[in-house]
Amino acid sequence: MDYFLNTLPKAELHLHLEGSLEPELMFRLAERNSIELPYDSVEQLTAAYDFNNLQEFLDLYYQGAAVLLTEQDFYDLTWAYIERCRTQHVIHIEPFFDPQTHTDRGIPFITVISGISRALKNAETEYGISSGLIMCFLRHLSEEAAFEALQQAEPYLDNIIGIGLDSSELGHPPAKFARVFAKARGMGLLAVAHAGEEGPAQNIIDSLELLHVDRIDHGVRAIDDPELIKRLVTEKIALTVCPLSNTRLKVFADMSQHNILEMLEQGVKVTVNSDDPAYFGGYLTENFIALEKGLGMSKEQAVLLARNSFEYSFAKSERKAEMLLELNCY
Ligand code: HPA
Ligand code: ZN
Repeated sequence: MDYFLNTLPKAELHLHLEGSLEPELMFRLAERNSIELPYDSVEQLTAAYDFNNLQEFLDLYYQGAAVLLTEQDFYDLTWAYIERCRTQHVIHIEPFFDPQTHTDRGIPFITVISGISRALKNAETEYGISSGLIMCFLRHLSEEAAFEALQQAEPYLDNIIGIGLDSSELGHPPAKFARVFAKARGMGLLAVAHAGEEGPAQNIIDSLELLHVDRIDHGVRAIDDPELIKRLVTEKIALTVCPLSNTRLKVFADMSQHNILEMLEQGVKVTVNSDDPAYFGGYLTENFIALEKGLGMSKEQAVLLARNSFEYSFAKSERKAEMLLELNCY
């Protein structure tokens, strides 16, 4: 089954590039850039990866991202993730990046986007991995700061397919970003938002109503609202669910309690994703394996989850058809 899950063609729709920064690369970049890390070794660093909630993780995640300074650093970060995708048969990716985490440290927007975009282009030409880059606004920062990030992105709209909303959900509901999402959508960008991860089902409804998102990231708290579940099914609104993230951040106490397969069986268009694999103990294949071990996911369910990842991606219709065809022999 592990081999089957690894070779199964898949798309990843919820992956923070900064969350794919492996400890070894973090140390390498710290040395290259003469940055002092508050840890003596990889072991000491990973021992700190013991989170009780989203905020405890975010504190380390932003600290880790501080080793990223140059265009080459962003290239190396993105390329390392692409190499993982190649070995796990991830053939289409829609990664997130958090520009404000970097521009607030004085790194120019162009440095960030150039390194990431160069790696994504190489992924297409060298490995045939297609992609669409999504820029996230940090919801703990102001609306004004989000408008500023959007303005900085304007010269690079050819490199970005959409916007997202991440960081601390509790205390930062979707309404604060309605106007900046409207502006971005008016510029032709697609939209997604983290909602219903730690926050209530209402945040999912508000993301649909106020932000007009095309997909919901996480969305597991939808289960608390049967009317919302019905709506997600009839309107075919996909959820990008992240099983290992949810157990590591204690959204669910144990994988056996995760609701992804329950929602799948109810007809919700759920997909499997890794979120921040360097921090949560696994890339896409490991997330599929965790569902098999923890929830008894069948091969048929795994294929349906992979099918959803292509169907609800933002890929062009010809590319979607090509990817779906690859599933025919599974
Ligand atoms: N939730 C919110 N913000 C994030 C996450 C997440 O799971 N990962 C990285 N930023
Ligand atoms: Zn996320």
